[in-house]
Order: sequence, then structure tokens, then C-alpha cells
Amino acid sequence: MRSLASLLGALALGAVGAVASSCTLSASGGDDGPAFVAAVQSCDTVIIPQSTTLNVSTPMNMTGLSNKHISLQGTVMFPPDIPYWSGHGYYFPFQDQITFWILGGENILLDGGGIIDGVGQPWYDAFAANSTLLRPILLTLFQATTVTVQDITMLNSPEWFNFVNEGQNIVFNQVTLNATSTSKNLAKNTDGWDTYRSDGVIIQNSIINNGDDCVSFKPNSTNMIISNLHCNGSHGISVGSLGQYAGEYDIVANITSMNVYMANAENGARIKAFAGPNVGSGIVKNITFQNFVEFNVDYPIVIDQCYETNATLCAQYPSNTYIQDIIFTDISGTSSGNEKAVVAALTCSPDGRCSDINVANLHLAPPPQYPVANYTCQNVNLTGNAAYLFGSCTTT
Ligand SMILES: *[C@@H]1O[C@H](CO)[C@@H](O)[C@H](O)[C@H]1NC(C)=O
Ligand SMILES: *[C@@H]1O[C@H](CO)[C@@H](O)[C@H](O)[C@H]1NC(C)=O
Ligand SMILES: *[C@@H]1O[C@H](CO)[C@@H](O)[C@H](O)[C@H]1NC(C)=O
Ligand SMILES: *[C@@H]1O[C@H](CO)[C@@H](O)[C@H](O)[C@H]1NC(C)=O
Ligand SMILES: *[C@@H]1O[C@H](CO)[C@@H](O)[C@H](O)[C@H]1NC(C)=O
Ligand SMILES: *[C@@H]1O[C@H](CO)[C@@H](O)[C@H](O)[C@H]1NC(C)=O
Ligand SMILES: *[C@@H]1O[C@H](CO)[C@@H](O)[C@H](O)[C@H]1NC(C)=O
Ligand SMILES: *[C@@H]1O[C@H](CO)[C@@H](O)[C@H](O)[C@H]1NC(C)=O
Ligand SMILES: *[C@@H]1O[C@H](CO)[C@@H](O)[C@H](O)[C@H]1NC(C)=O
Ligand SMILES: *[C@@H]1O[C@H](CO)[C@@H](O)[C@H](O)[C@H]1NC(C)=O
Ligand SMILES: *[C@@H]1O[C@H](CO)[C@@H](O)[C@H](O)[C@H]1NC(C)=O
Repeated sequence: MRSLASLLGALALGAVGAVASSCTLSASGGDDGPAFVAAVQSCDTVIIPQSTTLNVSTPMNMTGLSNKHISLQGTVMFPPDIPYWSGHGYYFPFQDQITFWILGGENILLDGGGIIDGVGQPWYDAFAANSTLLRPILLTLFQATTVTVQDITMLNSPEWFNFVNEGQNIVFNQVTLNATSTSKNLAKNTDGWDTYRSDGVIIQNSIINNGDDCVSFKPNSTNMIISNLHCNGSHGISVGSLGQYAGEYDIVANITSMNVYMANAENGARIKAFAGPNVGSGIVKNITFQNFVEFNVDYPIVIDQCYETNATLCAQYPSNTYIQDIIFTDISGTSSGNEKAVVAALTCSPDGRCSDINVANLHLAPPPQYPVANYTCQNVNLTGNAAYLFGSCTTT
């Protein structure tokens, strides 16, 4: 049934020439998803006023759009009908994901100061009881070109907050993400952003509190700039994990992450690639982590080219994902002491699979009970003015 949500405003449908149309949405009392999708398809500008909460109870397919402005001043919320969504979210085979909302096309602006609410708490509790539960990503930019998301708050996503899949020229600016569980069950897998098969993504001036990667560059992420992020509670800024799937070749290149504050996190600046039998391959090239300030982070600096593979197996089956031209510079702060005095861990597969790794201006300290910071490394020749901190890295 067509929703009752009304389309008001200066509808210029049928007008001759390029008169911009604007539609204002209101809540219907039932599922507002279909009316929201219809409005975005037929109007140039769609306004969700500040006092309006749209209840979206069916997945939204907003793909193939062109020249659209969604002014979200109010709230879009996804009521947590868990059995429904886990069976009806749009499916992506990459890492077995589903999503509430696909947005794609060209020249799209989503802004307005409003809220996208994933109502995650029941999902966090249900996932604790069912570890195979499919949970929806809050927003997926799919085949999107020249899209800006700015001045938006995203709350309590059941799964990743933002998935950029096959996107180009994408900007996220002044976005606040917050996943907080009020029960003992953590807000797991609530990555801030995951990029995949995408080129030219900027993520900047944003505040994140979540329970997994703050930003994760997944296979085929190129030419991206991350700057001025304040991440709390996350798993860090992560390249990878890469080289997971046998027969696939993953490229992550030309990524700069700078001006990042990272607190209460598992990792700060991280690159991870699988080793072991029956994995994939790839290249990680020209990655810079610059000007990070970290507080209470388990591993402030990480390369793990033996991801989820023990040392014996990693020596036998080194990673086929090569890591080259990496810079870690101007990184300061404190680790958590989670692994005693370790503040940086650069673990490479043997035989020069990591090369041109530069470490400079590192000022990291463990908690006070450990008098000396421990910089660890394996199978890598380091350059840069902080290389001496690591000692010899050629033993295995
Ligand atoms: C949202 O809409 C669905 C479907 O009409 C309805 O069952 C549900 O009660 C509504 N929830 C809210 C919070 O309005
Ligand atoms: C979304 O809509 C487009 C256009 O109608 C269609 O081609 C596409 O298959 C739909 N996507 C999904 C995931 O249903
Ligand atoms: C757990 O979630 C999966 C995937 O969503 C579903 O197929 C399965 O039925 C759920 N198991 C239980 C016990 O609810
Ligand atoms: C996240 O939400 C919690 C609970 O509302 C609040 O205490 C916390 O300050 C918020 N964090 C951020 C970064 O907005
Ligand atoms: C930051 O993360 C810590 C640990 O997860 C949490 O206790 C705290 O509430 C978070 N702070 C904010 C402002 O969200
Ligand atoms: C990444 O891009 C390369 C080069 O275009 C391609 O061969 C490879 O299949 C892509 N990998 C993935 C995971 O899409
Ligand atoms: C990386 O950037 C360089 C310099 O702009 C460019 O030549 C190269 O094609 C880029 N690499 C990829 C994989 O996009
Ligand atoms: C490295 O990547 C940055 C973007 O992050 C780009 O500006 C620069 O041109 C790249 N350098 C090379 C040598 O590809
Ligand atoms: C390393 O992992 C392999 C495969 O899981 C296992 O068979 C082996 O016992 C492990 N070796 C050590 C030293 O833990
Ligand atoms: C380190 O450099 C030496 C001298 O060039 C080279 O023989 C060795 O293979 C390199 N080791 C690694 C792990 O790259
Ligand atoms: C540094 O940490 C590594 C890895 O935990 C450990 O093997 C090594 O003994 C530590 N070195 C010192 C000096 O504590």
C-alpha cells in the first residue's frame, strides 16, 4: 500500500525548463520508506523537517539518482524488527553484509543537521545470543559518484555505519557517529566507514564513538584522505584486512590519514594482511599515517602481515599481500599496557614482503608501570629517524 506520507511544497513536475522541485516529507504513522524513496526519485530537493521522524520499516533502494539534495533536518529511524530486517536487508556478498539503505547515482548531497538512527541496542543484545545474525549496515553508498554527506549524526547502527561500495569522489564532512550499548553486550562490528572498490574518498572533521574500526580501507580502496577525526573506543584506522580470499587480488594505494585523535582503542594506525595457506594476494602501496595523537591504545602503530596466522605457519606460507612505501610520522601518546610495554608492532612476512617502511618522529609511551617503551618488529628494514627505536628487525 502506498504510504500516507505527504509530499508538500513547490512541486514543479511537468513545468517546462529546469525549475527545481522541492518536497517536504511528514510522518505517516506507518512505514515511511516507500514515500521517502518516491520523493527522492521525483523531487530535486527532499526536506525532512526538524520535528519529523520518518519510520523506515522496509529497505530503501535509492540508486541511479542524479542531482539530488536530501535535507535531513529531522530523523530517519529504522525500527528494530530483527527477524524482518535480517531476512530483507539488501545483501552484499563482500563479508556477508546486508543494509537498510542504498544511496547511489551522481551529484547527491545529504545534509541538514539531522539524525539517522539505527536503534542498535536490541541488535547488540540479539547478536550476543546469535553470533551469525545478519545485521544491517546503516547507510551504503553504492555506485555513487560525486556524493557529499555532511552535517549528519548517525546513531547506534546495528552493524557498520557507512559502506562505500563502488564509489568515486565521495566526501563525508562533519559527521558524528555514536554507537553506545547500555547493556553488557557491546556494540560490535560498528565500523565507522568501510571503503571497497572505491576511489577518491575524503572523510574529515568528524567525531566517532564506536566498537570496531574507525575507518577501514577494504580491497581496492585508492586515493583517499582522512583528516581531522576524533575516534573513541574503536579498533583504529585500518588498512585491511587484505588478501583474505583465495583467487582475489586486493589493491589499497594512495591513502593519507592525518590529524587523528585516537582514544581508548585497540589500534591506532594499522595495516593488516592475511598469510597462511589458501589466502588471496595484493598490494598495499603509498600509505601515510601522519600526526596522530593517541591515548590508551593497545597498539598505537601496527603492521600485521601475519594476520590471524601464527609465526610457524606465517613462515611456511608468507603473505602474498605486499606492503610498500609506508610512512608513520608524528605519532605521539600512550598505549594501554594491554600487551605490557609494547607501543608499536611491525610484523612482516619473510623475504622482503614489506619494503620502504619509514618511521619518523614517534613519541609513544606505555603506562607508567613500564619504564621503557617496547617497539617490536620482524622481517623488515626500517628507515626514518625513529628506526633506531626498533633495533634489529631481521630476526624471526
Ligand atoms: C513503524 O511502522 C511500522 C510499519 O507500519 C509499525 O509496525 C511500527 O509500529 C512503526 N513504529 C514506529 C516507532 O512508529
Ligand atoms: C535498486 O533499484 C534499481 C533500479 O530499479 C535496480 O536495478 C536494482 O536491482 C535495485 N537494487 C536492489 C538491491 O534491489
Ligand atoms: C541467527 O541469525 C541467522 C542469520 O540472520 C538466522 O538464520 C538464524 O535463524 C538465527 N538463529 C537463531 C537461533 O535465531
Ligand atoms: C555517545 O552517546 C553516549 C550516550 O548517549 C554519550 O554519553 C556519549 O557522550 C556520546 N559520545 C559521543 C562521542 O557523542
Ligand atoms: C569513549 O570510549 C570509552 C571506552 O569505550 C567509553 O567508556 C566512553 O564513554 C566513550 N566516550 C564518549 C565521549 O563517547
Ligand atoms: C582490484 O582491482 C584489480 C585491478 O583492476 C582487479 O584485478 C581485482 O580483481 C580487484 N579486486 C577486487 C577485490 O575487486
Ligand atoms: C597513486 O597516485 C599516483 C600519483 O597521483 C598516481 O600516478 C597513481 O595512479 C595512483 N595509484 C592508484 C592505484 O590509483
Ligand atoms: C600518495 O598518495 C597521496 C594521497 O594519499 C597522493 O597525494 C600522492 O601523490 C601519492 N604519491 C605517489 C608517489 O603515488
Ligand atoms: C599454528 O596454526 C596451525 C593451523 O591452525 C596449527 O596447526 C599449529 O599447531 C599452530 N602452531 C603453533 C605453534 O601454535
Ligand atoms: C634488508 O636489507 C638487506 C640489505 O639490503 C637485505 O639483504 C635483506 O634481505 C633486507 N631484509 C628485509 C626483510 O627486507
Ligand atoms: C617486547 O615485546 C615482545 C612481544 O611481546 C617480547 O617478545 C619482548 O620480549 C619484549 N621486549 C622487551 C625488552 O620487553
